[in-house]
Parts: sequence; structure tokens; C-alpha cells
Amino acid sequence: MNSYLKCVNQKCGKEYPILSTDFKCSCGNLLDVKYKNSPSSNLKEVFYKRRNPEGSIFNESGVWRFRELLNFCEIDTEDLEQCSKNLVSLDGSEGRQSKPYHMSKVASFVGIDNERLMLQPEGYNPSGSFKDNGMSAAVTHAKMVNAKKIICASTGNTSASAGMFAANENMECDVYIPEGEISPGKLSQAYQFGTQMIHVKGTFDDAFVKSLNASKESGSYTVNSINPFRIEGQKTIPYRALEFLNWEVPDWIVYPGGALGNTSSCGKCIMELYEWGWIKKIPRIAVINAEGANTLDVLYNGKFEDTELRWNKGDPNVELIDQYYSKMNDDGIRPQTKATAIQIGKPANLLKGLRALEFTDGVVTSVTDNEMLDGMSIVGLNGFDCEMASGAVPAGVKKLMGEEIIKKDDTVIGILTGRQKEPLLPIEYHNNISNKFARPPKE
Ligand code: F0G
Repeated sequence: MNSYLKCVNQKCGKEYPILSTDFKCSCGNLLDVKYKNSPSSNLKEVFYKRRNPEGSIFNESGVWRFRELLNFCEIDTEDLEQCSKNLVSLDGSEGRQSKPYHMSKVASFVGIDNERLMLQPEGYNPSGSFKDNGMSAAVTHAKMVNAKKIICASTGNTSASAGMFAANENMECDVYIPEGEISPGKLSQAYQFGTQMIHVKGTFDDAFVKSLNASKESGSYTVNSINPFRIEGQKTIPYRALEFLNWEVPDWIVYPGGALGNTSSCGKCIMELYEWGWIKKIPRIAVINAEGANTLDVLYNGKFEDTELRWNKGDPNVELIDQYYSKMNDDGIRPQTKATAIQIGKPANLLKGLRALEFTDGVVTSVTDNEMLDGMSIVGLNGFDCEMASGAVPAGVKKLMGEEIIKKDDTVIGILTGRQKEPLLPIEYHNNISNKFARPPKE
């Protein structure tokens, strides 16, 4: 077999067959999907040609257009029948509409030349967020292992995406949610797609622990981002951005940070492309936390115990993480932000995220709720809608430019992770004259 799973901890490095469904190594660390072969860069041309899909939904799909780079099913990727039998797709629509755009008002808000900033809205995916990229790959693997039920904990978008895919594939779907902390817009999607809701009293982090336990039952399968196949699917977000730039690498790729699945997948994407010789330069990843849910910022930037947490070539200081999590528990610190999508205290992909940051010489910062709301609103004024968590991207770029970490002549790609699903937020924002971009109604 060309593909297999491997523990991310370099001291362990234990390997597992591709059909394994336990996504934690016996040493407790997460697993990567690995491929023995290095794909030829001639594929760049194949991917480009597929933009004229010639009747194939797998060419139309923004995920499966790049199927050679995530071919864990080990199919003949040019054989349509094999694609149809194996690859899970919402009729080619996942990732289909995604590409980066210039948004001049965002550029002037953050203080960069319009030519140097592009934002890639992932909210125009079928379920309204970037999750569909990873979900198509995870549910493909779920089918490979004959799973009957997919399970996730969610701050909203994952459940909407999982529910949509489950309904299409005729699978069951259980969703563990922190009661009362999910935007109704996302919750209503999950209900509509027929998911079974399980209310958990507590935070997303508590719901996540419960969902992982439940996924150990036979026939059940977790689609949270600790699932390494989710990470494979999400690699196509930077693929599409890079393809749009003719594989010319920008100086920065910017994401909001929650459970750090995106950060991890972007890091893996860049590590692989670099290793394969497809790119010569390594972009820097910037992760933007919400101030009220800033575990990565605290640990990475040495705000706890004066120690900067690093991947440290595969030997991170895990005691520091445990210590911080114990302190959170002891002091009753709960993640708190209006951007509920990223209201996460214990990012499940923390170690993979650290690896991504080390490889790309990344930076981490936090922004306030008001800064995210301004970011969300200025994106709207360019004719795109995004949710509050995605507003962290313009807000974070602005902050990092102010600190001269992102330089005026750098090129920046920002990922707008989700579409506006909370209609009351913009209404409240624009009815409050003290907000920067507010346009209150007239009598
Ligand atoms: N943006 C949006 C819109 C999200 O829904 C999420 C995560 C993130 C950013 C953070 O991304 O976890 O890759 O760092 N939402 C998850 C959910 C946790 O359950 O829907 P990350």
C-alpha cells in the first residue's frame, strides 16, 4: 500500500494501516496520513485542465480535482467509475466556488496595497463553511471502513457539514453540542439534515470528550478534526489558493484559530509541497485567536509560565500544556467569545498546529470581539459575507501590520472560513452607531 497512518510524535512514529479508525496512537498522539510516493509536479497542469470538468463531478469538486494529492483510497484517479464508487462528493460542489479575491475595502482597512491582499471565502461551500472540504474526505474514509454512523462535537459548522454529508450518504449522524452556545442558524441546519442532537452541559471541549468516547462504539466514526482524513481534505483550501497564484507562494497565509485543524492542514500541505519540490518558498502561517479563547496565543507567546511552547523538532513541552489545562480547570476559566465558532479552550490539534507553525515560522495573535465584528463587517462592504470568526482574519492582518510583523510589501492570503449564519449579529452591529462601519436605519 502507498498510504498509511503514522504517529506525529517523532520519538514514537508508530505506523498503522490506512483502514484504522482509532485516530490516536497508543502513545496518545494524533496520526498523519502518509504517502510513500511523491506526486509529480506535472499534475499542476492536470489540475488546471480539470477546471473544465468535462462532465465529471470529481473534476468540478474543489477537493477531488486534486485527488492525486489525497489518494488514500488508492484508486485509479482517471477512472470515473472508481471515483464514483469511492469518493464522497456533494455532486462536485465542495470547494467548487472557492478561490481568492481582492477586496479593496478590506485592504484599505488593514492598511495594505489592494494588490497584496487576497481573501478566500470558504463560506460558499454547500453547508456554508470550510468544513465541507475535510468532510468529503473523512466521509470517504468512513465509507471505506463501512461506518454506519458518523459522530462529532461541534461549535456549529462541523455539525452542519457532517449532517449534510450523512444525509446524502444515508448514514446516521450524532452531534454533541455545548447546550445554548451554538448559533441557531447552524443548529437549525443540523436539525434539518436529520442529525441526532446530544446536548452537553459545559463547553465545546466537554462535548468533544463525550463525542470521542461515543465514537469508540462499533460502527461509529468520528469526523472531528482529529480525524486525519479531515486534515487531508482541508489541504485543498491552500491548494486552490496556490493554484490561483500559479503556485507562486505568498508571504503569509492567515487563518482564524479554533481547534487548529486548518492550521494543521495548511502546515501539512506546505510541508508536503516543499518536500515534493512543488514550491521553493515557505509561506508563514498566521493564526488569529479570539481574545476570550486564546490558548494557542497564551502558550505559543510565552504568556504562561514565561515559556514559549514550541513543536521543538517533535519534542514539545507537553507538561506545560497539561499544566495550563489544569489551571483552566482549577480556576474555572472558560473560553468566552461572541465568535462561538472558535470558542474553544483546548484545541485538539494543538501539537500538529505547533508543527505547522515551526515549519512555516508562523505567528499567533489574538483579537477582540469588536475587532472581529469590524473585520466581518468590512468584508460585507466588499459584497462577500462571512461569519464573525472569519472576521478574525482581517482583524488579525490589521493588527500584525500595525506591529510591522506583516510588512507593507508582503503578499497575504486570508481564509474566510464561514458564511454569516447568525443574522442578528449584523443587525445589532449596524444598529449601534458607535460601531466603526455601522449604518443604522433611518426613520
Ligand atoms: N472558522 C469557523 C467558521 C469555524 O467553524 C471554525 C471551527 C474555525 C474557524 C476554527 O477552525 O478548528 O480548524 O482552527 N469550527 C468547529 C466546528 C470547531 O465545530 O464547527 P479550526
